Amino acid sequence: MKWKIKILNNLNDFKKVYRVFSEPPYNEKYTDEELENIFIEYQEKGYMYGSYIDEKCVGLIALERGAKSDQPVKFQDEDVMYLADIAVLNNYRRKGLGNQLMLYAVMQSKLLGYKKLYMRTLKNGSMSYGIALRIGFKQIPNTFQSVERERINGKTETMQNIFLEIDLKNLNKEALRQGINMLNYSKGNEIGG
Ligand SMILES: CC(C)(COP(=O)(O)OP(=O)(O)OC[C@H]1O[C@@H](n2cnc3c(N)ncnc32)[C@H](O)[C@@H]1OP(=O)(O)O)[C@@H](O)C(=O)NCCC(=O)NCCS
Repeated sequence: MKWKIKILNNLNDFKKVYRVFSEPPYNEKYTDEELENIFIEYQEKGYMYGSYIDEKCVGLIALERGAKSDQPVKFQDEDVMYLADIAVLNNYRRKGLGNQLMLYAVMQSKLLGYKKLYMRTLKNGSMSYGIALRIGFKQIPNTFQSVERERINGKTETMQNIFLEIDLKNLNKEALRQGINMLNYSKGNEIGG
């Protein structure tokens, strides 16, 4: 099985993976046009990487340059990258792909010269929280945001979110070692059987 992480610039790959946000716990409703707009925003404002198994895109991670002005975060004169989205298709989860994508994003952000990477995630039931903590993200104290979205049942629901950040200047040695391995693996080495 050939696995690699590479730049994601195919709209159909993006749409297939992004549909995970229309599954529980998010159940978010997106039209094709909305998905295209999100894709364009990520292409213009940041970087998107896909996780490919035998050339099939099974996961993605999106990064945006700078802090989002509609979020209650404050960063002082630092070059900050925002981890906007991470998703892995249901059938490919719990194999470490999410962890690899996140490490890859950490290393790319560091290589691009950013000082911090931050992300927003669900206060309850986050599927990325454990991975983020193991890599070295820390919760930003007293920082919360309620996000209102239309759900697939047509109702608008609000979910509570927290924020996590990682200092890219002082990555812990283990995260650094794994991240460097990740960049090397993604050059196209084989994993699994
Ligand atoms: C979050 C998400 C990307 C994680 O993807 P993933 O590929 O399953 O991530 P990993 O496999 O690296 O880790 C997930 C869990 O599986 C565990 N795991 C990793 N490899 C494993 C293996 N071989 N066997 C069993 N468990 C394994 C990890 O320890 C981790 O456990 P945790 O939940 O206790 O932290 C995925 O769940 C997803 O797409 N969720 C929906 C979208 C979403 O919530 N995005 C986050 C928005 S902030």
